[in-house]
Parts: sequence; structure tokens; C-alpha cells
Amino acid sequence: MQKITKVIMPVAGLGTRSLPASKNIPKEMLPVFNKPIIQYVVEEALEAELSNVVFVTGREKTVLEDHFDHHFPLEETLERAGKKALLGEVINAANMINLITVRQKERLGLGHAVLCAETIIHDNEAFGVMVGDDLILGEPSGMKQLIDVAQRENMPVIGVLEVAPEHVNKYGIVAGNTREDGIIEITDMVEKPAIGTAPSCMAIIGRYVLTSEIFKYLHDTKPGHGGEIQLTDALKAYALEHKMLAVPIKGIRFDAGDWVDYLTANLFFALKDTKIKPELLKRMEKLLQDYSA
Ligand code: UTP
Repeated sequence: MQKITKVIMPVAGLGTRSLPASKNIPKEMLPVFNKPIIQYVVEEALEAELSNVVFVTGREKTVLEDHFDHHFPLEETLERAGKKALLGEVINAANMINLITVRQKERLGLGHAVLCAETIIHDNEAFGVMVGDDLILGEPSGMKQLIDVAQRENMPVIGVLEVAPEHVNKYGIVAGNTREDGIIEITDMVEKPAIGTAPSCMAIIGRYVLTSEIFKYLHDTKPGHGGEIQLTDALKAYALEHKMLAVPIKGIRFDAGDWVDYLTANLFFALKDTKIKPELLKRMEKLLQDYSA
């Protein structure tokens, strides 16, 4: 497998779970501590050397592109005010990636969003897919863990995490043979199975390394769960005819579209800042006392 440099990030969803906060701000631009959600995802991609980022966007999403571009009036103001650290942060976001955008004109699902980027990917090229609202903190980064396996084994891989049996109905679930190293040789996949019917508890999270062959399967995929063209359905069809691995990602994951996960992620990242950690902990303790009384 050749070096992988491109990653498709579908960010065209409506974000209904994040309403009303996401009414006029894309969910992916909501802040987690001091950065928008999407910046964490982009930084994870960069750790895996994926610097050609394809945003699949929709209406009212241009603010996402702007975040990764220069804002000259702001930069000049910060420069004049001598706010060097902040200026550095602002310029850093502008220089981070080579950004390509494609439009998903109808929100027909995650599989359809990936298909919208077909023309950007060459024949036989491998590429990453990262869902723009999943935060994954791994060491090395979640995406790097997947790319290492995909390149070593020369086949597509998808990232999974074990979830509680009562949560399987929120995810795509894989079935297969688990090797000694914990990697699963996929034999089947099912999107959001009813509790008690799932083939395993290994849930597909928003990280994939695929090859251009997947587009053929996406073209053939009919609307599935929720009437949407599901990426899981295309992956399942692919996995029935080819080898594909599920790699349990070592790390922590937050679904930024879920309020409890979103708020926990805010605390998690804020507590890494030594300047605010002591005061934040004090306030958290006070809240705990008040609410457990
Ligand atoms: P979600 O399943 O979280 O859907 O999409 P959503 O519409 O964003 O949010 P909810 O469930 O209504 O709250 C996972 C990712 O796939 C993108 C979203 O932007 C999100 O980053 N997506 C989803 C698309 O780009 N297009 C789609 O048609 C659907």
C-alpha cells in the first residue's frame, strides 16, 4: 500500500442531537475547551501525516473552511496588541492543512457523503475517512494506529471500540474472527442492531482506512437504516468479497454529538491545561458536593 496522504471528513450533517446549539453553527465548530471539535479531528489526522483533508460540506458550513484559512484583520489586530501566543494559535490553524472541499448537495447519509469525494481519490489509492464529530485520543493517534495496520497488512481497516451490550443499538457492529493480536478478521457487519441481536459488542467508530474500490460498493448501496445510504452497508458488501480488518483502537473516544460525552470532553481537555486545572477542580468539587447532597 502506497503512502496515504488524503483523508475524507464528512461534515455535512444537520447535527440535530446538538440543537439548539447547532442551529446556526455547524456542530463540528462547537468548542471543546478552547478549540472547535473539528480542529481536534484535523490534528489527529496530521499526527498520521494526512495533510490533504477533504471536507464534505453542505449549506451553512463555510465557517469550517474559514477556520483553516487566514483571518488577516484578526491577525493584524493581535500582532498590534502584541498577543503573540494567540496570534500563533490563529496562524497555526490557517497553515495546518491543504484543504479540499466537496459539496454534499443532499444529506443522504454518511455513505453518500464519502461517495461525494470519489473524484478526489485516484484509482487504487488508499485514503482515510474520519467522522467530523468523533474525538479520539490515542497514543499514537487513533488514525495512526489504523494506518500502521493497513500498511502492514495491505488491506482496508476500520476502527472499533468495545461498548456495553445495552449500547450496541447506537453503532455499526462488526462480527468476525479475533486473532491473537486482538485484530478482528471481519465476516459481517450490521448497522444499529436491536439490543440482544448484535453479533458482538465491537462498535464501529468514525475512523477508517479504505481503498478506491469502496466507491463501487457505495454506488450499489441502497438507503438502509433511517433511510440513509449507510457506509456500514457498503463496507459489509465489500467485506463479504474481500479481506478487511477491524482494529480495536487504544484510546479514549468522545461522541461530540452526545451531550454527556461532549461535556466530559470539555472537562477532560480543560483539565490538561495546568493554568486552569486547580480552579476548575475546585469548582467541580463544589458542584459534586451540591449535587450529591
Ligand atoms: P451523524 O450520524 O452524527 O449525523 O453524522 P448528524 O446529522 O451530523 O448529527 P445528528 O445525529 O442529527 O445529531 C456523523 C458525521 O457524518 C456527517 C456529519 O456531519 C457528522 O460529522 N454526515 C452525516 C454527512 O456529512 N452527511 C450526511 O448525510 C450525514
